[in-house]
Amino acid sequence: MPTLLITGGSGFFAWNAWREFTECGYKVVLTSRMPAKVASIPGAPQTVGLEIVDQAEVAAVLSSVRPDVVVHAGALAQPSECESNHLRTREVNVVGSSNVFSVCTALGVPFIFMSTDLVYDGSKGNYSEDDDAHPALEYGRSKRELEVALSKQQLFPLWSIVRSSLMFDNPTPWNEGYPGFASEALLRGEETSLFTDQYRTPVYVKDVARGIDSIVKGNLYGQVFNIGGPERVNRVDFVRRYCRVAGIDESGIREVSQQDMPDYIAKVADVSLNSRRLMQQSDWRPTPLLAAFESMLQEYA
Ligand SMILES: NC(=O)c1ccc[n+]([C@@H]2O[C@H](COP(=O)([O-])OP(=O)(O)OC[C@H]3O[C@@H](n4cnc5c(N)ncnc54)[C@H](OP(=O)(O)O)[C@@H]3O)[C@@H](O)[C@H]2O)c1
Repeated sequence: MPTLLITGGSGFFAWNAWREFTECGYKVVLTSRMPAKVASIPGAPQTVGLEIVDQAEVAAVLSSVRPDVVVHAGALAQPSECESNHLRTREVNVVGSSNVFSVCTALGVPFIFMSTDLVYDGSKGNYSEDDDAHPALEYGRSKRELEVALSKQQLFPLWSIVRSSLMFDNPTPWNEGYPGFASEALLRGEETSLFTDQYRTPVYVKDVARGIDSIVKGNLYGQVFNIGGPERVNRVDFVRRYCRVAGIDESGIREVSQQDMPDYIAKVADVSLNSRRLMQQSDWRPTPLLAAFESMLQEYA
């Protein structure tokens, strides 16, 4: 059974994805800056302590676990946090990620880099991998910097860049996530503001995991892949659709424009993704929103 190591083990992606990777036939190992907290959750997979900014620690952990593939998800992933702390963003997202990549190179371990739809500037939507990536924010710029470094180096071919759309799934023990931040507020009877003017192709975390599995099993290295959901929606439509399937009262939804929220940093109009490249090279297909919501609710019950 191949071992797949995911960095950022307490993150929204890693925690929702690890079971899917197990289903795909991997032994999963998570790394985390707080391994005891992660390991205390019943059923958690093996979890090893790691701060990716510390290169010696990265080398020690990867040499000891000896994974067959690394999915590098650990990052400062909140655009607002990145915007207010450029230095820390570079330290974690550029230096930390380079540390993980260098050790993978030295050990000959395939490296999957989790990038983002926010490497695109949002001016046109339906982005394919060949469209120019001009990130508007520090978060996207830090991700883009590593993308460029990976694709320019010629020493190690076993890398892949996954540009994921906004991910959705059930809340984790540490993160309400998406749509949880809105649906849990509505369930508590609170009002929640959602944008009418930000379009994405939200993608089910399990589909991102299945996409990565297709890349690994198909040996599709040395490429960039967009991984988005099959439907382009704004935030209001997405959460309304979820509420209807989950039987949640939508009356607390306040429809707003991004311009109405001066503190909201990650203003983008349309970063919807065209994910045809991965579909052309594998049998991966993203789940329609309705079916994904039903699957989430079944799991949450
Ligand atoms: N969620 C989305 O919608 C989305 C969309 C596109 C791309 N992505 C990318 O997918 C990856 C996973 O995203 P996510 O939603 O799971 O993010 P997240 O919930 O913020 O998790 C990121 C994790 O990175 C880890 N991390 C490791 N070193 C860190 C450090 N020095 N400082 C801060 N955090 C550190 C933390 O886990 P530990 O403390 O356990 O180590 C943290 O929980 C990220 O690379 C993100 O850029 C996410």
